Amino acid sequence: MPRGDFTIHVIGSMMIDRVVRVREIPRPGETVAAEASAVFPGGKGANQAAAAALCGARVRMLGRTGADGAFIRDALRDAGVHTGSVVVSDPVSGAATVMVSRGGENAIVIAPESNRRVAAVEVERFLAGARHGDIALFQNECSALHEGIAVAAMRGLRVWLNAAPADDGLRGLRFDQLDGLVVNETEAEALTGLRDPARALERLAERMPAGTVVVTLGARGAIVAAGAARFEHRGFEVDAVDTVGCGDAFVGAFVAAIAEQRTVTYALARGNAAGALAAMVPGAMPSLPSREEVTAVAMRAPGARIEAGERSVAGGVPQRCEACGYRLVGKRLGDDCPECGRRIREAVLGGRWTDPVVRRRFRLASWLLLGGASFLVLFVGVLAFSLRRSSPVAEVVAVVSLIAWTVASSAGTLIAAHSHAAARRWSPASIGGALRIGGVGFVVTVLALQLGWWGEVVGIAGIVGVAASDLVFAWAIGRFACGTRISPVPRARLLAIRWVGAGAVAMLCWSWLELVLVLVRTGRSNDLPLIALALWAAFHLLTAIELVRLVRRMPVAERRP
Ligand code: RIB
Repeated sequence: MPRGDFTIHVIGSMMIDRVVRVREIPRPGETVAAEASAVFPGGKGANQAAAAALCGARVRMLGRTGADGAFIRDALRDAGVHTGSVVVSDPVSGAATVMVSRGGENAIVIAPESNRRVAAVEVERFLAGARHGDIALFQNECSALHEGIAVAAMRGLRVWLNAAPADDGLRGLRFDQLDGLVVNETEAEALTGLRDPARALERLAERMPAGTVVVTLGARGAIVAAGAARFEHRGFEVDAVDTVGCGDAFVGAFVAAIAEQRTVTYALARGNAAGALAAMVPGAMPSLPSREEVTAVAMRAPGARIEAGERSVAGGVPQRCEACGYRLVGKRLGDDCPECGRRIREAVLGGRWTDPVVRRRFRLASWLLLGGASFLVLFVGVLAFSLRRSSPVAEVVAVVSLIAWTVASSAGTLIAAHSHAAARRWSPASIGGALRIGGVGFVVTVLALQLGWWGEVVGIAGIVGVAASDLVFAWAIGRFACGTRISPVPRARLLAIRWVGAGAVAMLCWSWLELVLVLVRTGRSNDLPLIALALWAAFHLLTAIELVRLVRRMPVAERRP
């Protein structure tokens, strides 16, 4: 798991990438027909934010896009980026026309549009909550770059800039306000006038004597100056399919390692690993690798080759149909998109189990939840019986089944929450898990104290905890299964479960209070709490059954031939 807990605050671009595959990048005056085209979420800021988050960093993003670019925000969210400061109401989204040649080379033209509307005051507001030592990461595709850097530096943040593209927007750049700078060879030349990357590195290092300068060299790796120290890494060898976004993958992974307080050598290996892995899959954001993939490659000797079959088809971010943007749920290669009917090709298929350990844990969690839910159903049945006819045996069975449900479902919830690929930090699922553990305290306390007056107070708090846990967890499962990760369970059924669950939990909250305050205190019977309990138990059973099906049915990532 990631070390250190510094947040990366990305102030950056969001673009709709229209990627066209061509035989060769056209020369001036030439018109060529594309061999294929696709639309992807992109923009250097968004790509780098997603790359860092997929590498396990805590990432927030400030950016702007139009309504047609809302899918970029969704993709960021899917990657684990906090997108509360992303604005999606601008008139026109930023767009990039990306040409990719058969050899994997690319040329990009961007129309910044909404990215030019980022205001200095927004950056100031965005960074207001940042803590000393956090990282502010900028690129040169947005407005308010210089003001943003100044604010971040003044707040004591570590300021990193990926000076891309190296155009007039960089004029007047205050190198003294930067802690880190990442450029490729072209950008290094634009900033220094020196074609030789090693000399350009030295020139940039002179301008940032206490900082870190990275010059990326494409397939040849990268060189770094950190204060007086120098580092290099030869990169990893791959058969490149598409180099768009490789630089962003490098920056995201590198800065994520810096946020974890890792050494420059380690960050360099991770950056190169991420860049190389990204070159193996088409698109910018969809090609970003997961932390596990990056770790596995980064540990190899510099220059090692990554075989095509080692890269998961899915990449890190769940993918959508390239034609209509529909989120692909449980589809296989060769299937048709349920929305537009277009044949799904390898490039657009995602959302599989790529990690056998996570899959095993999820399987265990789903069975625990199913076992727990069955005990809950048993509990409600026995409770209904014993409220009408006094039976010591039924009371014992009710207590045992209640405890069994609590323990099994708590364990299942926690395992599921922490196995969730996107839950490397506190997520709704893990908060739900923690609240559920609070519920164990409730059950044990209430049963032990037989509802003495302070037992009631603790008990009521516990009820609210259990109910809140269910609400949060129902929401999280719904989000997970309805598309955050691709699932083979019909979306409508899961949405229904989610809302029935929310209703059931709300009703339960109210009714359990009544159960405690009226039924137990006065000894009077009332059917309402029982109906609510039954509804709640049904919700648990239904959710658990769907989870078991989901875990069993989701395909395992195939290795590329
Ligand atoms: O670095 C790649 C990115 O640059 C693309 O996603 C495109 O949007 C451009 O901003």
